[in-house]
Amino acid sequence: MIFTNFKAELKIVSPGRINLIGEHTDYNNGFVLPTAIDKNIYFYFKKNNSNNHCNIYSKSYDRILELDLETVKPSKIEWENYILGVINELQNITNKIKGFDCIIESDLPIGAGISSSASLECGMALGLNTLFNLEQPLNTLIKLSRAAEHNYVGTKCGIMDQFAVVMSKKDHVILLDCESLDYEYIPINISPYKFLLLNTNVSHNLASSAYNKRREECEEGLKIIQMEYPEIGSLRHVDLSILEQFKTEINPIIYNRCYYVINENSRVIEAAENLKSGDLKALGTLLYKSHYGLENHYEVSCDELDFLVEFSKYNNEILGSRMMGGGFGGCTINLIHEDAIESYVTKVSKVYKDIFGIELTPITVSPSQGTSIQLNQYS
Ligand code: GLA
Repeated sequence: MIFTNFKAELKIVSPGRINLIGEHTDYNNGFVLPTAIDKNIYFYFKKNNSNNHCNIYSKSYDRILELDLETVKPSKIEWENYILGVINELQNITNKIKGFDCIIESDLPIGAGISSSASLECGMALGLNTLFNLEQPLNTLIKLSRAAEHNYVGTKCGIMDQFAVVMSKKDHVILLDCESLDYEYIPINISPYKFLLLNTNVSHNLASSAYNKRREECEEGLKIIQMEYPEIGSLRHVDLSILEQFKTEINPIIYNRCYYVINENSRVIEAAENLKSGDLKALGTLLYKSHYGLENHYEVSCDELDFLVEFSKYNNEILGSRMMGGGFGGCTINLIHEDAIESYVTKVSKVYKDIFGIELTPITVSPSQGTSIQLNQYS
């Protein structure tokens, strides 16, 4: 058996991510405020001395993906596409990948909106880059991981997840400008508050198609604005006074999408300032406003998420709450006093179960460093 007595040459640790604020702004060239978390996917790699043959074992799915580097193509199985997509993109640029074996294990919940997909892509990209000395810079690995998701999975995602997974620094968030990819690390000094994720454990199946639809709707709004302002390249450069001029021309749904994106971009900048000055109350208020926009103007929330955000408002120890990530399920992120976490989780889980008949999973996270290389052996 390939995977018995497996002696790895290389171990890669690739985290998930949270996003404080700035949802659906990345593909509009706007701002985001994410960071990696202390939940990871672990990769154990070794070369197998063949030219083309690769075996990748996922412990979570208890499945082996076997592939020939000469004939890489999309699979019907979603998780395989994140890997195949990365191999394809990386091989196109370098043509230096040879046969390898890899074991993947994870303590990162899947489908919870904390980017297990970007973690998988970026861990694979960094692993192969290291194993075969491909010498690709981190920015290239980040972008090709995103391309893998576009071309093999079909989600036309932005750059936030891959950037956060690779570039994060412990105890900081990244204020990322998704147009220039300029970024600033901002220390997270929020004690005695903490970020608590509440996983709805639902993932409504429109997620990928509705995600792409939102992106198209933003592009449609932008096109109308560009007829008058051809110099504007993205919604990032549209302000509310410009948008207002198109109130009658843009259909109301598209108008709302643009309205949300413009406001959310401003909220990210404000939130970064609040974080620097320690104004956690103001930060919390922005989280609630962000959720209001995601629910009503961008329409990517769902009943389970809306309930959790609404319920949090009755607890004084919670300063803010909102849905996090692409939407239609996954987690809320809550800014909560650390002493209140236990009792709140007990209370909200019970009510959530009564209403939806689903278990709620709390996930406490700390801001952590991005994807890292460890050379120890698998045991
Ligand atoms: C998903 C995408 C990101 C981003 C978020 C929403 O996580 O992968 O690029 O668009 O949704 O903010």
